[in-house]
Order: sequence, then structure tokens, then C-alpha cells
Amino acid sequence: MSEVSLEARSPRVQLWTIQGAERSNSLRRALVQELAHKVAVADADRELRCVVITGAGDKAFCAGADLKERAGWTEGDVREWLELLKRAFRGIEVSPKVFVAALNGAALGGGLELALACDLRVADPAAMLGAPEVKLAIIPGAGGTQRLARVVGIGRAKDLVLTGRRVPGPEALAMGLCSKLSAPGKTVEEALALAEEIAENGPAALAQAKRAIVDGFGMDIERALDLEIQHYHRLLGTRDRLEGLAAWAEKRKPRYTGD
Ligand code: COA
Repeated sequence: MSEVSLEARSPRVQLWTIQGAERSNSLRRALVQELAHKVAVADADRELRCVVITGAGDKAFCAGADLKERAGWTEGDVREWLELLKRAFRGIEVSPKVFVAALNGAALGGGLELALACDLRVADPAAMLGAPEVKLAIIPGAGGTQRLARVVGIGRAKDLVLTGRRVPGPEALAMGLCSKLSAPGKTVEEALALAEEIAENGPAALAQAKRAIVDGFGMDIERALDLEIQHYHRLLGTRDRLEGLAAWAEKRKPRYTGD
């Protein structure tokens, strides 16, 4: 059975569901390998614009690393695991597709780190988000210390990482850890609606805007502004740019093709 099921909800939007509700959708090696492969396939799919990632069942999005699988690992296994997570999550972060995490339940440790690698996070009000690694005498090792600070700021990142405390949906929204709170039990539905809304936009523009934000963050402002212009330049020769202008002038919906 697939570790991450894939459902095409429309030609432009896919729903990926982490399988393993009986182990709170925790991440095992085979699952992360499959996730990395799926991202590479998605990158090459011309029709696809957005992917929504969620967890099976209604309790957990993802409870982080599968602590049962990890129990017998050597130090070398853990080192390889960290490299695998880094590659898989970075793949999402730099993908030309837009990834929306639908946090239908607990998003802890590596589960939160997976959500942080996504572009947007929609959470159920009852979802609990946290980075509890220090409670296990380790640290977030799949981008948690870095991406969390980028998303919520260094002060809040230190609060979450050093205490290991879990925050419920409304607090996560207030600190910017998620971008939207869904109605209870409607997280996947609302994340899919958001994905369809984003999928209406120019696909190359989405990819260039995402990359400009990801790569420009942390650069000094002069270099970052030059980088933004370089990404804009890549859109100048596109048919979609002319289609956007034509649709605006003709007061109709644009028909973007990615050309
Ligand atoms: N790895 C492997 N199995 C896990 C897991 C993990 N990270 N997290 C939960 N599970 C398993 C539990 O062991 C249980 O299975 P079991 O009954 O066969 O033992 C099953 O998932 C359900 O968990 P349970 O705690 O009974 O359900 P819950 O709904 O009350 O709580 C969580 C769910 C995710 C909030 C809770 O299990 C939890 O806090 N897990 C630890 C998460 C964590 O610390 N992750 C960081 C890893 S670095």
C-alpha cells in the first residue's frame, strides 16, 4: 500500500494523504522516500498547480518521526534519516508547485516541520502544533529551528522549541504559525478550496513568486530586490502575462496555460 495516497481533485489540484492513522501518521523511512519521489513527479506535471497534504483519520496530521521504527536505529541510521528529511522537505520548499498543509489534527515534531516546508498552513481549531523534540533530548532536525524562526520570528521560535509546548489552532493562528483556521472538521475541504483559488493564478508567476520569497528571505535588501527583478524578468516573455492583460481589458477570467 502507498505510504502517501494521491487523489487528483481536479486537473490542477491534488490531495496527498499521509497513511498510518494507527501510528498517528508518524513518518517512517519508506514514507519520506515516497514523499520525496512524489514531489519530483509533481514538479514535472505541467497541469498541476497546487498540492494539499493532510493526514489520514481525524486525530493527527502527523506526529513526527515514527519513534517505534527509530527505536532500533544506530547513530548512522539517524544521520541518514536527517539527510533524507532535509532533501524531502527542501524539495517541497523549492518546488514550483504550491503546497498547502491541511492540519486536521496534531502536527508535532517532524509533522510540524513538514507543515513548515509547505507554503501555507490551514489548521483545525482543535489541532495541536508543537516542536516537542527537546523533551526527547534531541532538537528539531528537519528544518524546525530554521523555518520556525522564519515563519513566526526568533522569539516565538525559541518559546516553542525550548519549552516543547503544544499550541492549539487559535494560538497558532495568532502567532502566524498557520495562515488560516478552518471550521471544525472542515480543514481538508477548506484547504482544497484555497488550493483551487491559488490554482486560478498564473502558474509560472506562482513558481517565480514562491522562489523569490524563499530565496530572498535572509538576503540583504539590495540583493533581495535584484533577485525579485530577476524572477520578474522570467515572466516577461510568457504568453500568460499577455493573457492576464488581455483578460483584464476584456473583463473576463484569464485562461492561463503555463506558457
Ligand atoms: N511514532 C510512532 N507511533 C506514534 C507516534 C510517533 N511519533 N505518536 C503516536 N504514535 C502512536 C501511539 O503509540 C499510538 O499507537 P499504540 O496505541 O499502538 O501505541 C497511536 O499512535 C495513537 O496515539 P495515542 O497517543 O494513543 O493517541 P492520541 O490521539 O491520544 O494522541 C498524539 C496522539 C500524536 C498527540 C500523541 O500520540 C503524541 O503526543 N505522540 C508523540 C508525538 C511526538 O512526541 N513526536 C515528536 C517526535 S520527535
